[in-house]
Amino acid sequence: MNIILLGPPGAGKGTQAQRLVDRFGMRQLSTGDMLRAAVKAQTPVGLQAKAVMERGELVSDEIVSALIDAELSAMDADTGVIFDGYPRTAAQAQSLDGLLASHGRKLQHVIELDVDEDALVERITGRFTCAKCGKGYHDTFEQPAVAGVCDKCGSTEFKRRPDDNEETVRTRMAEYRAKTQPILPIYEERGIVTRVDGMADMDSVTSAIESVLNG
Ligand code: AP5
Ligand code: MG
Repeated sequence: MNIILLGPPGAGKGTQAQRLVDRFGMRQLSTGDMLRAAVKAQTPVGLQAKAVMERGELVSDEIVSALIDAELSAMDADTGVIFDGYPRTAAQAQSLDGLLASHGRKLQHVIELDVDEDALVERITGRFTCAKCGKGYHDTFEQPAVAGVCDKCGSTEFKRRPDDNEETVRTRMAEYRAKTQPILPIYEERGIVTRVDGMADMDSVTSAIESVLNG
């Protein structure tokens, strides 16, 4: 199964993708995570993307589609994929169609996480992740069971994203509204979009997504 999680910054794409990975053994392909890894490793892509990401703007379509192509090429066609943060423009949506076809895959669902923008700044500015395994947390909404210790891997190191500040979040939201939301009709025409209430608690959002996948 191949699905897209679509929604603005802080909608819960990464949170829900991690849960689907744990429950269904699917693979999460997050272009944001791939780009952050490239920035950290100072690869040519990372050097190009760093400043763009810090401003909250979109990295070029060619770069992100090449990252997705490389991941799909290295994967078994039977492994289910959750696209998290890709596609984000009409050009990326078109590239994805071509990539799925060339890798023998079919898109079953696009899940739109419907959220109230006012709540997103709080979600984003409170977010942190385990520096070792990447498990996501939140200062208010999802703290580790033992303060300072990752529930999943026991690490005591955590990190925050440089683009998780209020000013950048506003730009990221504007980019979403201008370039990403307009691609929804492409998938609506195919009858594969389900809107899920992303303002519900995390477990309810997961259940709603699971019923779409099982339906
Ligand atoms: P990316 O990493 O994709 O960031 P984003 O789209 O801004 O989304 P986020 O990761 O911020 O939000 P999320 O929906 O994953 O929320 P999360 O689950 O963590 O992209 C970053 C940058 O990379 C872009 O700005 C761009 O520059 C570049 N880029 C990436 N992909 C690109 C592409 N395809 N094309 C061009 N450029 C690209 O949740 C947030 C917080 O809220 C967490 O702390 C979580 O614990 C909490 N939370 C989650 N769900 C709930 C809930 N139901 N209730 C309460 N709290 C919740
Ligand atoms: Mg994310």
